[in-house]
Amino acid sequence: NKVVLAYSGGLDTSAIVPWLKENYDCEVVAFVADVGQGDEELEGVEAKAIASGASSCHIVDLKDKFAREVIYPTLKTGAIYEGQYLLGTALARPIIAEAQVAVARQVGADALAHGCTGKGNDQVRFESAFAALAPELTVIAPWREWTMRSRPQLLAYLAERNIPCSASATKIYSRDANLWHISTEGGELEDPWNEPSEQVWTWTVAPEQAPDKPQYLQLSFAHGELTHIDGQTFDPVDAILHLNQIAGAHGVGRLDMVENRLVGMKSRGCYETPAGEVLYAALQGLESLVLDRTTQDYRIRLGNEFAQLMYDGRWFTPLKDVMLASATKIAEPLSGDIVVKLYKGKVTVTQKQSPNSLYSNAFATFDEDEVYNQKHAEGFIRLYSLANRIRALHQQAADDT
Ligand code: ARG
Ligand code: SIN
Repeated sequence: NKVVLAYSGGLDTSAIVPWLKENYDCEVVAFVADVGQGDEELEGVEAKAIASGASSCHIVDLKDKFAREVIYPTLKTGAIYEGQYLLGTALARPIIAEAQVAVARQVGADALAHGCTGKGNDQVRFESAFAALAPELTVIAPWREWTMRSRPQLLAYLAERNIPCSASATKIYSRDANLWHISTEGGELEDPWNEPSEQVWTWTVAPEQAPDKPQYLQLSFAHGELTHIDGQTFDPVDAILHLNQIAGAHGVGRLDMVENRLVGMKSRGCYETPAGEVLYAALQGLESLVLDRTTQDYRIRLGNEFAQLMYDGRWFTPLKDVMLASATKIAEPLSGDIVVKLYKGKVTVTQKQSPNSLYSNAFATFDEDEVYNQKHAEGFIRLYSLANRIRALHQQAADDT
């Protein structure tokens, strides 16, 4: 028996390795996805996995794929969950699961395991991906089986087995980081009446502490994809890292929200998505110039639908392809330049231009114009309000009798 475990090097997955070996009598292969969580998490992760009892550790760099195949396409859909969340955790799950399945095939494993709890969204996202990609593999979710519930219990479990672990018994928060965002949950955040303490935030400075001078960035897009920052080309991964740095230093990208989980409960999370907030604002600025009214409206609804799909772990479905094809088509004319201003936690679009701009000063001007006949509006409004007129006439006739 061979199990491939999605391993992070944290306390939970470190305990899962011996637990799987004891309870499933199996060899455990550790799989680590590098989705941009940072060197701190990745350093020494292989040695840790082996020390926990894994037979081998496969680290797969997914950063470029994550940016190109998930983040940029999702941006084009404009997906925002419940009006606020830029989906940082949800976006990374499908490609992590996909790479995990590939490792399982490579080593001839018969099962997949993960460290998600039985209360969250992530279990659904991983296992929906597993179902779509490897229906023949068994899925093991230790958190739904074992009786351990706290960090001290997990630490004791490792200590009994002489497995070294540097994790502390008192880590306050549960965090999940990747190229796109870092999420922080738990600790004082579990009471929505508590304001997050400053130690919650790790990628962004407090807006109060941000520089007193605003910073401007020019972002250039081709077909809805970022190509240049201040005239310099960046590949997607570097562009996101660069924007995270700059925007985070201005306190841009913080979100504190209570959301509805797929499994029914509400949860409170603090999210930092500096590059994301800048890119959403910039694209929105470009859309406002380029998309006509009904297309814009359709894009907004597509964004809501796609956010739901991503949040709910439905990436490996034909519907995802339909929605992304639609978003790509809508984004075709989204080329041009946007200037954003970063200041004290806020990103504002200050300048926009596009060769495909539908904004016509000749039509919109408050000064005299030669292209628009104001008399045409009269007939339009007569028809547009016809139902109002009929209803009112009907009401008057009724009142008269
Ligand atoms: N609530 C967010 C989501 O469902 C963040 C989840 C964070 N996950 C984690 N394993 N810490 O997307
Ligand atoms: C977990 O429960 O494993 C993390 C939170 C979530 O999946 O929503």
